[in-house]
Amino acid sequence: MRSALRKLEKSGRLTTVQGAVHPKFELAAVLAQAPGRNAVMFNRVEGYETRVVGNLVDRTNFSVSCGIEPTLEASLQHISRGIEHPVPAALIHDAPCREVVITDKIDIMSIMPVATFFEREAGPYITAGVIAAKDPETGKRNVSMNRLLVLGPDKLMIGMSPSHHLYQLMIKAEKLGKPLEISAAIGNHPAVLVAANAYVDLGFDEFEIAGGMFGEPFELSPGVTVNVEAPAGAEFVIEAEFVPGELYEEGPVSEFHGMYVDYGKSPVLCVKAVTHRKDAIYQTILPGKYHEHFLIGAMAIETTVLHHVRRAVPRAKAAYITEGGMGRCHAVISIAEPRPGEGQKAMFAAFAHCNLVKQVIVVDDDIPIDDPIAVEWAIAARMRAERDMIVIPGVRTDRAEALVHHGTVAKVGIFALREAESPPLAEIPRSVMEHVRQKWDSYQVRG
Ligand SMILES: Cc1cc2nc3c(=O)[nH]c(=O)nc-3n(C[C@H](O)[C@H](O)[C@H](O)COP(=O)(O)O)c2cc1C
Repeated sequence: MRSALRKLEKSGRLTTVQGAVHPKFELAAVLAQAPGRNAVMFNRVEGYETRVVGNLVDRTNFSVSCGIEPTLEASLQHISRGIEHPVPAALIHDAPCREVVITDKIDIMSIMPVATFFEREAGPYITAGVIAAKDPETGKRNVSMNRLLVLGPDKLMIGMSPSHHLYQLMIKAEKLGKPLEISAAIGNHPAVLVAANAYVDLGFDEFEIAGGMFGEPFELSPGVTVNVEAPAGAEFVIEAEFVPGELYEEGPVSEFHGMYVDYGKSPVLCVKAVTHRKDAIYQTILPGKYHEHFLIGAMAIETTVLHHVRRAVPRAKAAYITEGGMGRCHAVISIAEPRPGEGQKAMFAAFAHCNLVKQVIVVDDDIPIDDPIAVEWAIAARMRAERDMIVIPGVRTDRAEALVHHGTVAKVGIFALREAESPPLAEIPRSVMEHVRQKWDSYQVRG
């Protein structure tokens, strides 16, 4: 995270908050109302010496942190590189995240300023934890992000969708009669956060995806009390294990759609160690309907959606998960010179890949799919509603879907594709557009 913060600061994308904020609600309220999309560094948090960073990830912040062009194409390429060319992680000793090691009298709330976000939630949540665990059968690592509710000095509740890999590992471990161990790393580079959210197969180590994005082995530090590694450069690491049979009734919790949900009982973790940098910066992610929560998921999901769509439709050019679609539910896909029915194939591939995607708009590759006005234009100009919309009722979905009903939701496909007989676009001559761009200053355009 440190390298990302340096780059963001250099490019004017790091805002600092000098005034003290309280970690209960106040910090969240500042993050929610911070202007623009800069990362926000809180220099003073009441009751703590630790600084806190929030709003770290938005699309431009991701690009700046990764040193890539701030375009959809570049981010798709960068994340794809991680998935297609994963780099095995490297183990290092004397890692920054182990500068301070606490194994005795652990009290999470006295070590880090865990924020409380929403009125009705049960308490303070760690929301930027990157959770690593090992498959008890194969030993392969899995990485994800999961909310951690602080229940007591060394007790946490972990939120997991039963459809996710971490949940499957917990069940496997239960069957083998050995509690699953985890490490939760807080304070990570945006690339690591996006990698942790990639929809890849069980057994695919998401830290290797991060390595692929960095173009070098991602450095991990061996666990102190658990047999699970953690990012060496993390700010804080919590090591814990599942408490067999212990569940906690969570009550209302915010989901990515911004509303409260009640998932009932969730597993409890017993913390065995906390390690951190000497001058650790605590990272928090404002959850619920806020942009960072949307975008970390969106960037990961659109990349793997594109991979899957390309298997069915090789000329698929790009995929984009919209922010208005909660960074999960609405995909826009562009295809170069689509043949009849390829829009439909692309839609089915996207639905099959990601449970949460429930609306797919397919456009030609002349449409910049990350421009909502251009996409709406394509719908207005190219979609015949009686022919180009499809509603598929009753499709199995994730429990996190906002409109889930008996485990299902309707899915929608919209095909806004040029017809062979579409009239040509009325364009200003391309050469003149280019000429004007080149001599722009000479027009003395002011105001
Ligand atoms: C900020 C943030 C918080 C998240 N919290 C949770 C959570 O509490 N529970 C959950 O099941 N998924 C959560 N996710 C989504 C998972 O991390 C994501 O779907 C991941 O790919 C699951 O990985 P897995 O299938 O390897 O377990 C969160 C994502 C983000 C960006």
